[in-house]
Amino acid sequence: MKIFITRRIPDAGIKLLKAAGYSVDIYKEDRVIPRKELLKRVTGCDAILSLLTDKIDDGVLKAAGPKLKVIANYAVGFDNIDLSAAKKRGVIVTNTPAPEVSETVAEHAIALIFALAHRIVEADHITRNNKYHGWDPNLLLGTDVIGKTVGVIGTGRIGANLIRRLVDGFDIRILYSDVQPNKELEKKYHATYVPLEKLLAQSDFVSLHVPLVPATHHLINAKRLQLMKKTAYLINTARGPVIDSHALVQALKAKRIAGAGLDVFEGEPQFALKKQDSAYLQQAWNVILTPHTASATIEARQAMSKLAADNIIAVLSEKPALTPAR
Ligand code: DGY
Repeated sequence: MKIFITRRIPDAGIKLLKAAGYSVDIYKEDRVIPRKELLKRVTGCDAILSLLTDKIDDGVLKAAGPKLKVIANYAVGFDNIDLSAAKKRGVIVTNTPAPEVSETVAEHAIALIFALAHRIVEADHITRNNKYHGWDPNLLLGTDVIGKTVGVIGTGRIGANLIRRLVDGFDIRILYSDVQPNKELEKKYHATYVPLEKLLAQSDFVSLHVPLVPATHHLINAKRLQLMKKTAYLINTARGPVIDSHALVQALKAKRIAGAGLDVFEGEPQFALKKQDSAYLQQAWNVILTPHTASATIEARQAMSKLAADNIIAVLSEKPALTPAR
């Protein structure tokens, strides 16, 4: 059976696929596979191991042909895949919500929270560039995280891990909003279920952990940014379009919020859809930007590789997928 992998990934999964006796074809260039090449290379495949940077629509499914049984997306999110087109063609789609990934992304959100509160990036820049001229009682005053209120929007695996870490380690008060209450989080971590508007109005840090679906597109818009405290920070390790980036830049410019930690962007790899907004984000010291690396640890990426392969092996052996996308 033939598997096509759209870009080289950590080897745990590749080894499993080869050990299972499949013929594994990997796009060799270290970049996003061009559309034309993708359409050519998927022809006759039984499985595709895709990345979040690949748009998998009906055109790709059609090009693959009738043997295609599974698309294993190497990501937790699967907004790059047309699920209904896959369903119509009887192709199973899977994702990689490995426990390691949930921990890693939660860690990254925590890293952004602390880096913003303690002004770490700005402090490093000043020190590195010989702008530190001696101890100063007012130099780079930040804010404590301990004892503050964190609003968590979306309490799936990643949001729940973030809550656990913050409450266990930093005595944080948690407000959360989701499609339905989560009694376990309420019992274990004294998390309080509140409407989104209340969460925004009361939190010192707001962290986004929702999938990108039509209902979450621009969930954080100008009106909702207006509700946040002037001293509050917004963290996004979910998907860029969950925030209206133009509205965010306007809020930052007007000092309506204190800052933002962004791992994902509208129109990635740009920082925002409008050029002048990207330019603003790139020079603002109260904004920390990371290039969609919230899951970029060896542990998480190997776990993703392994889970993507295990999903392919399960489906091609006519067993249920381990983590179907839905
Ligand atoms: C995911 O898994 O969806 C991340 O965004 C990629 O690391």
